[in-house]
Amino acid sequence: MKFEVRAIRRSIRTLLSLLPAVCSLAPGISAAVSNDDAIGGLQVSYSTPREGAEIAADLTVLPNLSLYVPTGGSPTPFLESKPFKAVWDGFLNVDIRSSYKFQAELNGELRLEINGQTVLEVTGNGGETSASKLVRLSKGTNRIAASFSSPVAGDAWLRVHWIPRNGLPEPIPRTALSHAPSSELAVFSRVRLGRSVFLEHRCANCHTIPGSADFAPELAMDAPSFEGIGSRLNPVWMRNWILNPRSIRSAARMPRMFHGEDAEENASAVSAYLATLTTHDSPSESTLELAIDTQTGESLFNKLRCTACHVAPDSSSSDATLIPLRHVTQKFRPEQLEAFLQKPETHFAWIRMPNFKLTADEADQLAAFLRSHAEQTISYQESSNVAPVNRGRQLVQTTGCLNCHSLSVENHFTSRPLIALEASGWNEGCLADTPDDDSRTPYFAFSKTEVEALQAFAKSNHPVLLRHGEVEFAQRQIQNLRCAGCHSQLEGIPPLEILGGKLKPEWAEQFIAGRVAYKPRHWIQERMPSFGAYAEGLAHGMAMEHGFPRKTFGEPEIDQIAAEIGRRLVASDGGFSCISCHSIGKIGATAVFESPGINFAYATERLLKSYFTRWILNPLGVDPTSKMPVYFDEQGRSPLIDIYGGDGPQQLDALWEYMRLGTQMAPPPGLSEVR
Ligand code: HEC
Ligand code: HEC
Ligand code: HEC
Ligand code: HEC
Ligand code: HEC
Repeated sequence: MKFEVRAIRRSIRTLLSLLPAVCSLAPGISAAVSNDDAIGGLQVSYSTPREGAEIAADLTVLPNLSLYVPTGGSPTPFLESKPFKAVWDGFLNVDIRSSYKFQAELNGELRLEINGQTVLEVTGNGGETSASKLVRLSKGTNRIAASFSSPVAGDAWLRVHWIPRNGLPEPIPRTALSHAPSSELAVFSRVRLGRSVFLEHRCANCHTIPGSADFAPELAMDAPSFEGIGSRLNPVWMRNWILNPRSIRSAARMPRMFHGEDAEENASAVSAYLATLTTHDSPSESTLELAIDTQTGESLFNKLRCTACHVAPDSSSSDATLIPLRHVTQKFRPEQLEAFLQKPETHFAWIRMPNFKLTADEADQLAAFLRSHAEQTISYQESSNVAPVNRGRQLVQTTGCLNCHSLSVENHFTSRPLIALEASGWNEGCLADTPDDDSRTPYFAFSKTEVEALQAFAKSNHPVLLRHGEVEFAQRQIQNLRCAGCHSQLEGIPPLEILGGKLKPEWAEQFIAGRVAYKPRHWIQERMPSFGAYAEGLAHGMAMEHGFPRKTFGEPEIDQIAAEIGRRLVASDGGFSCISCHSIGKIGATAVFESPGINFAYATERLLKSYFTRWILNPLGVDPTSKMPVYFDEQGRSPLIDIYGGDGPQQLDALWEYMRLGTQMAPPPGLSEVR
């Protein structure tokens, strides 16, 4: 651990030397900034509190005024673990002049300033603070600044809410928060990008770093296994891929490994060898696909939104960030495309292609559609060389393939560990403009921006930067995996931005990993595909970004008396008639033609209680287009005054206790199990 502590000091120093001007962020508000080019989220600086001046060790942008840092953890990969201080800075934007109170839930110390006035100054040890005085916000832009210091003991967390006049507390919406771009921020963003390029391209597979449990999960990323690869892929396609992966897919992570005159010969030898790596059950030639009409496949392709990440095979789009599919016939051996579509992660755990739980029929239909538009011929002459197989095997063992790909033969390739690469050399070797013909270095064909980012990363003392930053992991992978290709596009698919403050992370993890058997919104035709290897990190990071722990705190035993009252509350007779839209286990909703809602039996394993409460008290505050009726007034009181005197929070607790019974929920009065 000593190594790391020393390294972080160095890292802070080197990062600072990268800054054009040393930024010393005094708590509170710095010089005036205009909001002309304001962008979403607040700027946040992290520092280690020390005697005298505080120096920012990291600057970044966060979408919410919240954080969660477990004991022993750190809010950012750039900082050593606690104690730490976080300072938010930016704008709070409102459409009309209005007044709000502010309130926080926290463990730590908070000072919140609006337009230069301190509105909250509190030390919290877990609970909710009382609300501030009413604060007048001007129409348009208001300055907001907050500083948070981690607590002496326990996890650090913060969630700031605002309370509109005559309204209920809610997290400050993301759309209301923005910040001005700055050159300091740009410096740190470059290092961040470098870190991400380094991790995504598996540099550490060759330039190794001393292991630590804290390190980024991406360091475990694999590549497609070579075991049985000869049964799956065509050798000619493999040869072309190995020669130049980016000629087939511009977003390839795999580098070019062979350069110079021998390149083609080497690639042929390697693919000839890979072709011999077959499994016992050799694929049978199949003619089945001819019988399948391709239209079903085409509509499935659109319905499932394969287009979120792929160029449709019949489209001429040249968006380089999308994965092309025109070559599937050249690549996959018979029946292997179908097998791939059904379970893309079989030979490659960290594949970015998600699993749609396709039925065999669906996979056949999609494959038929893809093949009907695929290029058939391949522009390559099979080499007449005899028996390059042995040479291929030797190349695989000595070229570095096995630093990324797995196969049970010995790997004879080694390279220098990361610490042995001088920062000044980061324009050579793997980062040279053009590959050196004689070298054994891989060639990634990085853009200028990527090279500069890697260089900034190199100067910033990387070992420490490889620490796990859970929020960053989620933010990075949400981009990388193109979640927004579905989530901000289609009606009925929940907006991704709120999910960290809505779902229990343990449920979200299971759901993203494809391990939840039911479909929450059974009425929509789209499907959430699963991203197995990424699920845990995504779920943790999303929750922590909203100020929630990786795992929900346990609850006391179910209060059966409250649960019984909850059962009455959902009924049609004397209750809220929730059951006209919501089903309960096997009992269907009574008015399905209304607007269907989720099954109550799954509500509490899925939702955070705070969200459940906020949603039912004011659904339109969460989703202004929601069809869910409003039952409670602005003071949180309901018209059912014979139950708890109409007290909203108590009635909601009762509903929650009832729903906690899950699949054991007894039918509400007036309904029986079998209808
Ligand atoms: C397949 C293994 C492999 C991978 C993956 C790899 N490198 Fe290299 N790298 C090498 C080899 C081999 C050299 C030549 C020097 C040596 O023998 O270590 C080299 C050289 C370098 C050098 C030049 C060092 C000098 O001072 O000359 C830099 C910088 C470098 N790599 C950075 C990277 C980065 C950044 C990545 C990820 C984007 C990366 N490498 C991925 C194998 C690899
Ligand atoms: C969230 C993004 C995403 C979605 C949605 C998606 N894919 Fe993919 N798909 C990928 C990525 C990324 C790859 C490349 C995987 C790799 O090798 O790293 C891929 C690879 C593939 C391949 C193999 C191509 C090759 O060259 O290896 C096929 C075939 C494919 N996808 C079909 C589909 C179909 C059909 C759908 C819809 C049912 C779909 N994909 C939906 C991201 C996606
Ligand atoms: C730095 C890591 C790395 C190295 C080194 C590397 N690969 Fe790859 N390879 C990958 C990744 C990752 C993929 C998945 C596609 C992508 O994202 O580029 C891949 C894909 C492939 C594929 C296609 C497999 C499929 O199922 O789609 C073949 C074949 C392949 N590599 C062969 C090789 C050979 C042969 C070598 C050595 C000459 C090699 N690779 C070196 C990372 C690497
Ligand atoms: C191909 C389209 C598609 C992609 C890509 C996609 N999603 Fe989804 N997602 C959906 C659909 C559809 C639902 C609603 C499923 C339902 O309720 O039955 C959903 C629901 C979810 C939910 C549950 C929300 C709730 O309120 O129940 C989470 C969490 C989620 N997605 C996370 C992600 C993440 C993280 C990514 C990227 C790694 C992602 N999704 C990518 C289509 C997609
Ligand atoms: C008129 C139909 C209707 C009635 C009546 C109704 N709801 Fe809903 N409810 C909805 C709709 C629509 C949604 C949003 C579904 C979605 O995610 O798209 C919803 C969502 C919910 C959610 C989950 C939010 C989420 O995103 O997962 C809960 C919890 C909920 N309702 C509880 C209740 C309770 C408790 C009652 C009775 C007090 C009730 N609902 C009455 C239509 C209704």
